[in-house]
Amino acid sequence: MADIILGIESSCDDTSAAVLSDRVLLSNVIASQDVHRAYGGVVPELASRAHELNIVPVVSEALSRAGVKPEDITAIAFTRGPGLLGSLLVGTSFAKSLALSLEKPLVMVNHLQGHILAGFVREKDKPVREPSFPYLCLLVSGGNSQIVKVNSPLDFDILGQTIDDAVGEAFDKCSKMMGLGYPGGPIIDRLAKQGNPDRFTFAKPHIPGLDYSFSGVKTSLLYFVRDEMAKDPSFMDNNKEDICASFQKTLIDILMDKLIKAAKQTGIKDIAIGGGVSANSGLRSRMVEEGAKRGWNVFLPEFKFTTDNAAMIAVAGYFHYLAGERCPLDVAPVSRIADF
Ligand code: KG4
Repeated sequence: MADIILGIESSCDDTSAAVLSDRVLLSNVIASQDVHRAYGGVVPELASRAHELNIVPVVSEALSRAGVKPEDITAIAFTRGPGLLGSLLVGTSFAKSLALSLEKPLVMVNHLQGHILAGFVREKDKPVREPSFPYLCLLVSGGNSQIVKVNSPLDFDILGQTIDDAVGEAFDKCSKMMGLGYPGGPIIDRLAKQGNPDRFTFAKPHIPGLDYSFSGVKTSLLYFVRDEMAKDPSFMDNNKEDICASFQKTLIDILMDKLIKAAKQTGIKDIAIGGGVSANSGLRSRMVEEGAKRGWNVFLPEFKFTTDNAAMIAVAGYFHYLAGERCPLDVAPVSRIADF
């Protein structure tokens, strides 16, 4: 009989619950929080309050869409971290209470593992196409930029990571700085489609090995906009498409340079991307382009699995469950990877 996994995700500003039958998706409900838009970024206290309001209806909607009764759940998987502590606390407490009341096993999931394994969620009537192990995953989100060697669903080596900002942070902070709005990634992506990516150049970092840095390119954009605006106050309004296209191209060049290096060093040809920034249209096209040039098998997640969602937590939880891992009821959430 199939294992029914309920996944719960609340690490940042999306409350999500999903139900899988083994790895097949039965439902994936996401309640996003618009309350942060007015502040130009996620306000942690408001996020945890919104999770408190959303968690019960979201979980109950996920079960009802899946046609699954609470007693039919095999195991409950939840995001333990990393993320905002107040937000994680809501999902963790809810998952623990539900596991206790239903007498079901509880499985904890690292949010980043969820992003990495998102491509293993299967959907009814859709062909299965999954990378073979070991493969490389470029994990790019608001909090992380990493190149991960995925040896098996539960065994990962981080080959490189950012030494300062995450690439999503660079998108978001620069969008805010240019007065374009929040979240910056999708806004810059949209404007970049109408601009010339080769019109402006921004400083690229020189970091050894496979690590990344995005703080320099952010500062380069800041000084560029400041200097141009001093000469012409309408510069931003008249050139935003070209600025976004050139800035986005710089970020993608930085990401791809190290990914290509990692592929050469390891000889691995199955290459995936994951995390919120993997929704970026420029990055997705470049992956396909480089893949064709270099003989890679490229795996791009479906858009609905790029940003935070509980389906990826449920599938990661499923692998942990199969491996016999169980989580005690006194588990506490953790905000940083180092504490996981
Ligand atoms: O994975 P995610 O939903 O949350 C974290 O765990 O961080 O990623 C959110 C990040 C934000 O920085 C957002 O601007 C970025 O993903 N993002 C994008 C796009 N869509 C979302 N960045 C670039 N282009 C996009 N289309």
